[in-house]
Amino acid sequence: MGGRRIPLLKRLAIEVLGEDLAKRVWSRVEFIGDIAVIKVPFSLSPKDLKPLAEALLREVPRVKSVWAALPGVGDEYRVRNYMHLAGDVRSETIYKEHGCLFKIDIAKVFLTTKLSYEHMRVAKLVKEGEVVTNMFAGVGTFSIIIARYSKPRAVHSIDINPAAYQYMVDNALLNRVEGIVLPYLGDAARVIDEKLVGTSDRVLMPLPDLALSYLPYAVKALRCRGVIHVYLHVKPSVNEDPRTVAEKALYSKCVEYGLSCRTAYSRVVRMVGPRKYQVVLDTYCSKVG
Ligand SMILES: C[S@@+](CC[C@H](N)C(=O)[O-])C[C@H]1O[C@@H](n2cnc3c(N)ncnc32)[C@H](O)[C@@H]1O
Repeated sequence: MGGRRIPLLKRLAIEVLGEDLAKRVWSRVEFIGDIAVIKVPFSLSPKDLKPLAEALLREVPRVKSVWAALPGVGDEYRVRNYMHLAGDVRSETIYKEHGCLFKIDIAKVFLTTKLSYEHMRVAKLVKEGEVVTNMFAGVGTFSIIIARYSKPRAVHSIDINPAAYQYMVDNALLNRVEGIVLPYLGDAARVIDEKLVGTSDRVLMPLPDLALSYLPYAVKALRCRGVIHVYLHVKPSVNEDPRTVAEKALYSKCVEYGLSCRTAYSRVVRMVGPRKYQVVLDTYCSKVG
């Protein structure tokens, strides 16, 4: 009595797959609207998880469709590979976060529920009348939450994935912020060069793979100075603070590019792998010269 509660997915796995197989199943299930996503470990085939998916459907009535997220990082649009396991064969749903609605298709666009705190943290920093550029906006999560909870003048929101762009357009309408959230389809560097140089007080870079190489474009989007939220993945060695590793990586890029930047705040957003962390750096940058 009084022991630790077994997570839902683990309990169901023990019931339907048996103790041995259950040991290899992740305990965490991600609920995105009425879709549940189970991560497939390298040691199992998605088909092994079908009885677990059926049990999840029975146990959680609001779940209508269960998908397996296959191992790997996903494509150029950061979309993971999925396999249908149980329930409706449908990958489109409506995901709710902070009272905003996001229509998405998990098989066509990136979405994680793990950035929810970060979306609101950044939204609260935005001051009335600010112009924001979101370089990697996805279906508009950061941008729409900023528009709903703060009073920006505009949130320029870029994505290169045509499906994400279309959902962003739809979601801006769905949340009645279509005059504030301004979607652009294309590569962030090109869109900034062609349309957004010197426009913004704040820039978001929520794509760790491109954050350092696209830093000069983020600075180009700023007026004279402003804040850039830089998201990085780092793999610190034992006893190293992930935030320090991220700050060092950013500073060496700033030196290389001749940028004048100072990080005012940093936090570990989440773990993304074994000893691998996503870190955000809220960095003040000025245009030199
Ligand atoms: C990690 S996701 C964005 C997450 C989103 N901001 C959120 O909070 O849910 C990264 C996005 O960047 C987009 N992307 C990838 N390369 C890009 C590029 N060169 N220019 C603009 N968008 C890009 C992908 O299509 C994807 O939607």
